[in-house]
Amino acid sequence: MMRQDIYLLPDATGWLPRRLSLYRIVTFVSLGISTLLCMSVAAIIVMNARKAIEEETSSAFRNAQAAVAIRMPPRFAGKDTMGKAMRLAEELDSLRHVSSKIIDTRGAALQMRADSTEPRESQAPRWFNTLMRPEIQTDLYPISHYPNMLGSLQISTDPGDEIAEVWEDFRIIIPLLGLSMAVMLGLIMIVNAQILRRLGQIQEAIGAIRQGDLTRRAPDDRIIEFAVLADGVNDLASHLQAERAENNLLQTRLLTLSDAERARIASDLHDEMGPQLFALNAALAQALTAAKNLQGEGRAQLDDALHAAATHAKAVRDSARTAINDLRPMLLGHGTLPELLEELVADFAEMRADVEINVKTNYDADAGELAELSIYRFVRESLLNAIRHGNAKRVEISMCCNSAEARQIVTRVVDDGCGPGDAVSGRGYGIAGIRDRAHAIGATYLPPKHEGGMTVTELRVTCQ
Ligand SMILES: Nc1ncnc2c1ncn2[C@@H]1O[C@H](COP(=O)(O)OP(=O)(O)O)[C@@H](O)[C@H]1O
Ligand SMILES: [Mg+2]
Repeated sequence: MMRQDIYLLPDATGWLPRRLSLYRIVTFVSLGISTLLCMSVAAIIVMNARKAIEEETSSAFRNAQAAVAIRMPPRFAGKDTMGKAMRLAEELDSLRHVSSKIIDTRGAALQMRADSTEPRESQAPRWFNTLMRPEIQTDLYPISHYPNMLGSLQISTDPGDEIAEVWEDFRIIIPLLGLSMAVMLGLIMIVNAQILRRLGQIQEAIGAIRQGDLTRRAPDDRIIEFAVLADGVNDLASHLQAERAENNLLQTRLLTLSDAERARIASDLHDEMGPQLFALNAALAQALTAAKNLQGEGRAQLDDALHAAATHAKAVRDSARTAINDLRPMLLGHGTLPELLEELVADFAEMRADVEINVKTNYDADAGELAELSIYRFVRESLLNAIRHGNAKRVEISMCCNSAEARQIVTRVVDDGCGPGDAVSGRGYGIAGIRDRAHAIGATYLPPKHEGGMTVTELRVTCQ
């Protein structure tokens, strides 16, 4: 894997080496080598056989020449010159690798072949004969009975029977060779297919692991090399799984700590500032009542100043309440999550009376404070985004406990706004924060998606 990646890195000119298929390489190379081997063996057999045929026929021809030189009747021999020549021709023709006949003065044969009318070379096909046949050597010896010219004795090389013998071997060896090559090729293809199938299985597992399915494992194998490869991939997946689990644990711990810190700050603010602000407001109310009983020049001025002070004190109290609520929803731990969401919606409705917000909850589970806080923050951020970015006029919030799918709490915010456009901006902290929270508690966050005129944002929390 690593080596392949390094190999595929483009060089300085940006050139990327072409990828080759192992299947094709093995198929074509083994097919080429088998064909070449078959052809070479056939060529060697043919060349050696040709040489042997040539040597055998030449040696037989030389013997025939010697026999003619010794036994050919001389020009002034007895009466039966032609008879003797014919017997000699018959004898020579019956020898292997040589043919002999008597021809008359016009060149027509006077004597048929000694063995049969059928040529011996007919056993081998014509193309094989043409391929193997060496150059035919021929000699003519005149037969004369002084003063008459009777005809000639013709001797020639005859490789027919030798070719037939070679053909007998050739027609067995070549098909056998072809068959063994085909079997070898078939075996190579089967092994190749097996290798590719196993590689494919391991590749599939790697693909699934890369997609995030860290529970996926490459199948074990009886072949050592593949088993080692699969073990390597599986070890890597286990390592990744352990790292991810640790990462999630750390993230959850971080989230728990930060929520605890926020809760402590909220509590401190509430406990410290709450009574003081209450006292301040009560004191201002008292001062206003006392000022009403006063008569004289500065009364109106005092009244105005006290009213202004009361307004500012109220604003400070509201700001403190919002800050405390943002740090940690006040109802959390005191009321249920549906009540908390109702409260949230009421706050939004107060701010934006032109937006219709509906909440529908079907929640009877206890997902734990961390999960409930995450759902609450998800709804608040999504509601805010729908109104602020999508300009929505109607928002539907639903939360239900889906018992069919391993007790999942599915919270969905659907708005009729314009949607996030083609690409959700990655610069906002809202979505990133929700995503991190979801990841830390093992939940699934589906970012806003505009479909059929509505924008849907979803959070799925699995109950512990
Ligand atoms: N319901 C929605 N309708 C339209 N746009 C949305 C919606 N929710 C998110 N967005 C888009 O996603 C972006 C990122 O949102 P967010 O992370 O909450 O950042 P912020 O609210 O701070 O801008 C927003 O700027 C907006 O463009
Ligand atoms: Mg936002």
